[in-house]
Amino acid sequence: MRYRKDIELKNGTKCVLRNPTAEDAQAILEHMKITSDETEFMARYSDEIITPPAEEAAYLKTLEADPRSIMIAAQIDGKIIANAGITCRPYHDRYRHRGEFGISIQKRYWGQGIGTAILKAILGEAKKAGLEQVELDVVDSNERAFHLYRKFGFQVYGVLPRAFLYRDGHASDAYLMVCRLGQK
Ligand SMILES: CC(C)(COP(=O)(O)OP(=O)(O)OC[C@H]1O[C@@H](n2cnc3c(N)ncnc32)[C@H](O)[C@@H]1OP(=O)(O)O)[C@@H](O)C(=O)NCCC(=O)NCCS
Repeated sequence: MRYRKDIELKNGTKCVLRNPTAEDAQAILEHMKITSDETEFMARYSDEIITPPAEEAAYLKTLEADPRSIMIAAQIDGKIIANAGITCRPYHDRYRHRGEFGISIQKRYWGQGIGTAILKAILGEAKKAGLEQVELDVVDSNERAFHLYRKFGFQVYGVLPRAFLYRDGHASDAYLMVCRLGQK
């Protein structure tokens, strides 16, 4: 999928929303490491992000060529500071209507409307790609993300106890959420 939109943030900063390309592989991997270190809300520790840049580049190239693959990054002053996407299982008929959403924004850019802009763009592309529902899980203490998802019509359909078990031994539950597209 290809996507590009210029937006202005709440503080007036210019920001570009666009699909990342193979040339962004290194920047995307760095972004993933930064955001994985900044909160307990991401699925991985930064030292678990070990994808070789060439492999990431090949993956991004495949995504760009596939109209049903949805990934949108945010760039400020030429630097990728956010990324979000939906992963699907398009080759299994019984799963074709579903997608799993994920998003990460570097902390210093929170609260400027980037999450809202990316989610709006992603859900629009998901509809175009024929998806009927978008799913996610979110750590129960992640109030900012929970608010964002509720704003776009995601509803809680369950709670997964001990969804994340951290290296220091504490655990977090996660809300399981779904958004039925076109039925908000
Ligand atoms: C969650 C995340 C995507 C939000 O992005 P963002 O750019 O800050 O989002 P926005 O600025 O568009 O909107 C944030 C909303 O949360 C609200 N908010 C902020 N702090 C909040 C809090 N503690 N409780 C409830 N709502 C809160 C804001 O008021 C705003 O709501 P509004 O649009 O109705 O005014 C971003 O914080 C992030 O990437 N976090 C780290 C990674 C992460 O948690 N990913 C999600 C994993 S499921």
